[in-house]
Amino acid sequence: MRNINYGVIGAGYFGSELGRVLSKVEGATIKSVYDPERKNALKLSAELNCAVDHSIDSLCDRADIDAVIVASPNGYHKEPVIKSAKNKKHIFCEKPIALSYKDCKEMIDSARENGVIFMAGHVMNFMNGVRKAKELINDGVIGDVLFCHAQRNGWEEPQQDVSWKKMRDISGGHLYHHIHELDFIQFIMGPAKQATMVGGNVAHQGESFGDEDDMLFITLEFEGNRFATLQYGSAFRWADHFVKIQGEKGAILIDMQDVKVVLKTSNHTETFLLHRTKEEDDDRTNIYLGSETDGAIMYGNPHKKPPLWLQGIIEMEMNYFHSILQGGEAEEEFKPLLDGTAAMASIATADALTRSIHEDRKVYVKEVLSDKDDIRSH
Ligand SMILES: NC(=O)c1ccc[n+]([C@@H]2O[C@H](COP(=O)([O-])OP(=O)(O)OC[C@H]3O[C@@H](n4cnc5c(N)ncnc54)[C@H](O)[C@@H]3O)[C@@H](O)[C@H]2O)c1
Repeated sequence: MRNINYGVIGAGYFGSELGRVLSKVEGATIKSVYDPERKNALKLSAELNCAVDHSIDSLCDRADIDAVIVASPNGYHKEPVIKSAKNKKHIFCEKPIALSYKDCKEMIDSARENGVIFMAGHVMNFMNGVRKAKELINDGVIGDVLFCHAQRNGWEEPQQDVSWKKMRDISGGHLYHHIHELDFIQFIMGPAKQATMVGGNVAHQGESFGDEDDMLFITLEFEGNRFATLQYGSAFRWADHFVKIQGEKGAILIDMQDVKVVLKTSNHTETFLLHRTKEEDDDRTNIYLGSETDGAIMYGNPHKKPPLWLQGIIEMEMNYFHSILQGGEAEEEFKPLLDGTAAMASIATADALTRSIHEDRKVYVKEVLSDKDDIRSH
């Protein structure tokens, strides 16, 4: 198998772990890393024994790099993605791909025009239990899916240093930053037709907080009289993190807090692991039960390392990306991550929801798809 050389842009909490994991994959070498915080780049380069580049341009220009891992803050993905594509480097880009459909489309188009692979880092798709749920649905075990409901809620205490993850302009707020549930629901139900969102910042104003909305309530309508609702936010004292899938013949719960997957039909209940092992599931449950986190609002920073369960899915995701670069055939299940479908669908629906809350009305997702301008400027 051909060796693949990688560069990493953004050496924080996630970029460092993506680099660490890739460096252990057979046939993968990390050649260089770039981060505007030089100390973050130096730390990772020392750990992975690779070079440090001084700019996005210089990393993307390197002749010895085949692919770039983009793990800069959410609002800063576009420049490295487009520069990588123009330099014919394959790309893995962290979620959310962009903070507007317009930017997302430009990024995907650039990858297509330059004939490079562009994989969206929607890592929830690599959880074993999520794959199992999709398999059960495809096999007709719960019949047609009529409704999905997701909650990703917790409570945020005052922060000493307010992270970019709390600033709407860079993170997009809870909806874009936690795009996983929206992406997963559309994987199962197809693209939403109409979107409505209400909410606001009800309990987190002032210097110790960012400017994102801390309560978001979402309704999605799909073809064929099917619906989904989602809640996101950091103003919920009772934390919840789950997706429930309601079918005609049964239902599935993906519980990311008391970690497990449960299938229920009229005569049968069965429980599956969400992650690879009981140890990984218990590790995640214990994090939620402990004091280390505020429910679903768990944020990493460059000084932290991801927990065991997250390392597990990063391993599966990086191995998959690497196998595709080595010429592997894309599995049907993961094709939307590689052909732009999942990225564009999730950002289009997020943009329709953003417009809905701004304009106080129900929005057709097709309004966003036909837009020439950045929806966030409306
Ligand atoms: N898939 C997941 O579950 C998951 C989990 C955590 C983070 N992420 C995503 O990974 C990305 C990075 O998040 P993180 O948790 O590592 O954040 P972080 O704050 O820990 O690290 C971000 C790093 O990017 C650097 N940076 C800042 N501006 C940059 C720029 N213009 N170009 C390049 N680098 C820049 C910072 O100096 C920092 O080292 C985000 O898109 C985030 O949403 C995904």
